[in-house]
Amino acid sequence: MFQINENYLKLPGSYLFSTIGKKVREYSAANPDKELIRLGIGDVTLPLAPAVISALHDAVDEMGNAATFKGYAPDLGYEFLRQAIADNDYKARGANIETDEIFISDGAKSDSGNIGDIFGPDNKVAVCDPVYPVYIDANAMSGRTGDYIESLGKWSKVIYMPCTEATNFAPELPKETPDMIYLCFPNNPTGSTITKDELQKWVDYALKVGAVIIYDAAYEAYISEEDVPHTIYECKGATACAIELRSFSKNAGFTGTRLGFTVVPKELKCNGVSLNSLWARRHGTKFNGAPYIVQKAGAAVYTEEGKKQTKEQVAYYMNNARVIYDGLKSAGYTVSGGVNAPYIWLKTPGMMTSWEFFDYLLDKANVVGTPGSGFGPSGEGYFRLTAFGSYENTVKAMERIKKL
Ligand code: MLT
Repeated sequence: MFQINENYLKLPGSYLFSTIGKKVREYSAANPDKELIRLGIGDVTLPLAPAVISALHDAVDEMGNAATFKGYAPDLGYEFLRQAIADNDYKARGANIETDEIFISDGAKSDSGNIGDIFGPDNKVAVCDPVYPVYIDANAMSGRTGDYIESLGKWSKVIYMPCTEATNFAPELPKETPDMIYLCFPNNPTGSTITKDELQKWVDYALKVGAVIIYDAAYEAYISEEDVPHTIYECKGATACAIELRSFSKNAGFTGTRLGFTVVPKELKCNGVSLNSLWARRHGTKFNGAPYIVQKAGAAVYTEEGKKQTKEQVAYYMNNARVIYDGLKSAGYTVSGGVNAPYIWLKTPGMMTSWEFFDYLLDKANVVGTPGSGFGPSGEGYFRLTAFGSYENTVKAMERIKKL
């Protein structure tokens, strides 16, 4: 008789955003006359920028012509895209990342889930609490998290680093020594971030204890403050201890188009073994590359036009973030985030739990958000709203919330 990966049986419930989707579908079915405003999942609403659309059209034409048709993409991704990334995202920020350290993928979610493949099962994982659920669930699937303790909402072998009001929603160095540290800045879900000096402390710590940092910088385009690092490789020594995950979803609206990349520096080694070659081996074996047309679209993001247009999109969402932040504040909520990130983190009113507030908001304001407890136990009593809706809906949602 065959066996299954029993680690899957330890996972509580379904993936957070699937649970929310199901609840919203059920509510809609029972209340077909209600017009819902969705500020739950961080999914973009603006169409792709004209420069991106034009590159897509051109690439589609190339695929229809025998002389320019492309089959399988190179393992690591097309050089034209990796060069644009190396120049714009790294060299321009003083970080010396070479093209063969950049691996093109179909998005940061897949990479953050898959990166665990190159790490041993006994590594001790540290995560922020609250946290983007993929880091934990993917490690649970690989058997790295121990058992789920329902009463605590925690996994027995995971080191949780609480990010609370008291810590300014940033993690503190853990007391127990981890092997793998997941960090995400600007942060999903709290919208908080840390300065370059603070991030340097994490790099120094990882180098000291021999840990690897998996750094998710999917929201870097939303940074508005000067001293916030756009990449972990702005920190000294980071190429010897950090992997960086990046996405085209939030900076250029590729949530449905799918494109991302992971940086694994050649200097990053474990007992002399290069993680870059392990990830190259994994990538080459299990992945056949992001589509050519999508990689061409990604390269268009780095053209002068593409940069200008995607910057305008980010500004549009950040204006929504301001509307939400100010709207909630004026309605008396305790709010944070929304300055360097498209997420606003609010305290639920009264003694409501996160899920109670989810139901309340859905029913009374017909606004969908994300319960903080879905991101971890320290998220209980909090709620996340995203700035990725349309401006009109964002304003309308605030009007409804203010009337509650
Ligand atoms: C979120 O809402 O947290 C994100 O959209 C999830 C993701 O990017 O996968």
